[in-house]
Amino acid sequence: MSWQPDTWRDYAAAQQPEWPDPQALGLTLERIRALPSLVTVAEVRRLRAELAAAERGEQFVLQGGDCAESFAECSSARVKSQLQVLLQMSLILVHGREQGVLRIGRIGGQYAKPRSAPTETRDGLTLPSYRGDNVNAPEFTAQARNPDPQRLLQGHLLAGMTMNHLRGLIEGGFADLHHPQFWEFPWMADSPQAVEYRRRVQGVRDAVRFMERLTRASSSALERIALYSSHEALLLDYEQAQLQAHGAEHYALSTHFPWIGVRTAALDGAHMAFFAGVANPIGVKVGPQMDPEWVLELCRRLNPRNEAGKLVLIARFGADAVRDGLPPIIERLAAEQRRVLWLCDPMHGNTETTANGYKTRPFAKIQAEIAASFEIHRALGSRLGGVHLELTGDNVTECLGGARDLQSADLERAYTSRVDPRLNAEQAVELALSLVEME
Ligand code: PEP
Ligand code: CO
Repeated sequence: MSWQPDTWRDYAAAQQPEWPDPQALGLTLERIRALPSLVTVAEVRRLRAELAAAERGEQFVLQGGDCAESFAECSSARVKSQLQVLLQMSLILVHGREQGVLRIGRIGGQYAKPRSAPTETRDGLTLPSYRGDNVNAPEFTAQARNPDPQRLLQGHLLAGMTMNHLRGLIEGGFADLHHPQFWEFPWMADSPQAVEYRRRVQGVRDAVRFMERLTRASSSALERIALYSSHEALLLDYEQAQLQAHGAEHYALSTHFPWIGVRTAALDGAHMAFFAGVANPIGVKVGPQMDPEWVLELCRRLNPRNEAGKLVLIARFGADAVRDGLPPIIERLAAEQRRVLWLCDPMHGNTETTANGYKTRPFAKIQAEIAASFEIHRALGSRLGGVHLELTGDNVTECLGGARDLQSADLERAYTSRVDPRLNAEQAVELALSLVEME
């Protein structure tokens, strides 16, 4: 039988919340279905063309943002600072790598989280795990942890406001390369990387002026730098409610770029069944538990016509496992001439817990996994097309190391992530500077 929007319901759907009131869920989904979509078909198609260009090596993908966005923190200031870090990083990459940068935010709907355990126990009390603001609240009370479908609607509206603000900032010229000095954070003034960052800002401004003198016109391409949205497409009811038929194709209009996480990438699972029929470009996280045959088969399912710009594999092995795990997969796909874009997620395989109880990631390991990935791809005649990062413009202390050499005792100072530790803006800029040196 041919694919239908609800074909996935015949398969096991991992990581779905147990909504206590299915009728309330149904009503909320109906409301979401009727609301304006968060993105448009034209934008999604443009992203596919951009990803195809990245596959050809014409641009480098920078995908990044919060591990989990939060309803309470949704504000103009935060939307702006998330865009700001990505812009700072791309300026460094454009200048240093002499390659275009395609920006994709983990933003505008990154509200659902897969968890390793369905419940959490504290002092003898067991409650459902926190699954992201689209499902429940992080506080450890029975009421907060109860899945509430009204949250899906709230998340949808906040994602829409986030996208609206991003579009307004970009349209208003915030991302304009003529004024990159506006992207600097005040607290970065005494940053160890400030000198190098400003040198590159000056370099880009000189290059822009030179080009404009050459062409005697202001280059409009430099005035509009787009940011695409992405999130883990975990909650299939929610994703299905935003599916739209366009000719013979179906687009998931909850985001430009949905991805499937490692916990929901089973070949016989519902996520695979759903996205096999979706026209968006799709990301899939690839980790140490997956072997080459698994990855080859998912390529066949999600990109049956083997098209460019359709499938993005986001490798997240960890600095210690990447040299064993990644090469056999790259080789197997190459032998079958599969078209994929490879990104490196150096965050999720490098998580550790400190003695004082914080989930963290050492900056050196994040850097090492990216460096190893560049080497592995080059040695195999393949290409690393970009990175996938968890980062924030807030001045947090969640990842260890970096130029200020954060220690485990520093983590308690400003640890605000509800799920995974993020690079702060300074660490993100430092990583971008080191990416310039990697080939
Ligand atoms: C994530 O990206 O936040 C995540 C949960 O990743 P993974 O599926 O790779 O563990
Ligand atoms: Co995460």
